[in-house]
Amino acid sequence: MALRMVVIHGPNLNLLGQREPEVYGNLTLEQINERLLAHAAKAGVDLRTFQSNGEGEIVDAIQESGRWSDGILINAAAYTHTSVAIRDAISAVNLPTVEVHLSNIHAREAFRHKSLIAPVCLGVIAGFGWRSYLLGLDGLAAHLKDTK
Ligand code: DQA
Repeated sequence: MALRMVVIHGPNLNLLGQREPEVYGNLTLEQINERLLAHAAKAGVDLRTFQSNGEGEIVDAIQESGRWSDGILINAAAYTHTSVAIRDAISAVNLPTVEVHLSNIHAREAFRHKSLIAPVCLGVIAGFGWRSYLLGLDGLAAHLKDTK
């Protein structure tokens, strides 16, 4: 049976393409999702995509994925650095989760160096632009194949 995953994109990622392209690249979120979906299909992964600017909606999406998904890819964007609620939701659903960032958060402002969600994630991929998502998907798929 195909692996099932969700990719959750957090606040302001709907503006990709026009938002600080020197930091986040030129692709829109739709284009990133298209590449991810094509990559997922080749890897035998059934992938759903979700974006919200709202913390509570992201918590709802994590809880919902606990009912059908095998794993989560999440770019919680700014909430990475602030959200106890998103961290607790990831712990609560207890699904293998990979934290993804387009930019290398450790090479940026000090407030971005701390992730509240990394300690409850399987791993973290940051700094490879849109390819961070593909690398995250591959890592998560390999982990799930080993453990399922
Ligand atoms: C980001 C990094 C965060 O610090 C920032 O708030 C974002 C995007 C990234 O993908 O590089 O919105 O998660």
